Amino acid sequence: MTRLFRIEKAEQLADKVYQMWVKAPHVAHHAAAGQFVIFRIDEKGERIPLTISAVDGDSIRVIFMAVGKTTTHLAALSAGDSIRDIAGPLGKQSDIKKYGTCVVLGGGVGTASLPIIARAARAAGNRVIGIVGARNASLLILEDEMKAACDELLISTDDGSKGFHGFAADVLKQVMARETVDCVWIIGPAMMMKVTSEVTRAAGIRTYVSLNPVMVDGTGMCGSCRVTVGGETKFACVDGPEFDAHKVDFAGLMQRLRMYQPEEKDSLERYHAHTCACKGGDHHA
Ligand SMILES: Cc1cc2nc3c(=O)[nH]c(=O)nc-3n(C[C@H](O)[C@H](O)[C@H](O)COP(=O)(O)OP(=O)(O)OC[C@H]3O[C@@H](n4cnc5c(N)ncnc54)[C@H](O)[C@@H]3O)c2cc1C
Ligand code: FES
Repeated sequence: MTRLFRIEKAEQLADKVYQMWVKAPHVAHHAAAGQFVIFRIDEKGERIPLTISAVDGDSIRVIFMAVGKTTTHLAALSAGDSIRDIAGPLGKQSDIKKYGTCVVLGGGVGTASLPIIARAARAAGNRVIGIVGARNASLLILEDEMKAACDELLISTDDGSKGFHGFAADVLKQVMARETVDCVWIIGPAMMMKVTSEVTRAAGIRTYVSLNPVMVDGTGMCGSCRVTVGGETKFACVDGPEFDAHKVDFAGLMQRLRMYQPEEKDSLERYHAHTCACKGGDHHA
């Protein structure tokens, strides 16, 4: 029997960034902060991992950036459409304990992962400071939700159009200068996580990052998501995706992320050519 997962709500949040609520009770009832799902839109579709950004009853929310073929296809779907397969919840839960003061810091679409971690950290008795960074004010997402989830929310934009003028890493330095920070989560593009986690290294602050290598099965079978952490090979899908930031080999991660770029570009171009032809009435899939 074919099982389909109904999209309850779909909307654009910022340039190329979308949120989607999907009814998936098997995931919603077991999901925890830090975990992800793997979507396959249709039977011919590629499998893509997306973080579980929120849970409400039987539904989960994902927030994604349309960067290639599958996320562009996903962005074109609306409420009432369906997803063919959703596997999850996958990966380990965030290491939530009572640490004291925690900072949850997100860059760009990485901010999608923060509210669920912030709420869990607060529920565990921590004071939680949120730091959300974006290139400019129009790209900031989840500001109200983060305000509600954190004890304090700080904003930074690269161009100064809102909040602190500069990088989220600089705001983290300011927070560390004014008070003791016991634990930090940093979630965003690999380069941003690498640079920002250097801020906490010298101070010896426990710091987690959520790694985003290419994943295929998401269950530890294919090896595509291997990363080096503390000199050991780990599979991000089952050993992570969160790891001790100060032990991650980011150079290796970034090199592997670039491996399939020509194929990804080709795939997006073929998707656009196909959808244009369909709109012109030349082809009916
Ligand atoms: C655990 C995890 C959680 C993630 N959560 C989110 C999220 O919440 N929101 C979001 O926007 N993105 C998230 N990503 C990244 C997302 O999976 C990719 O953007 C997506 O797979 C791109 O597919 P595409 O066909 O649109 O683009 P493509 O053109 O195929 O690829 C564009 C880029 O996306 C990455 N990518 C491609 N295929 C995969 C794959 N199978 N697995 C992982 N990365 C891939 C590569 O860096 C690639 O260069 C997550 C990745 C991981 C590993
Ligand atoms: S995605 Fe296959 S081992 Fe992790």
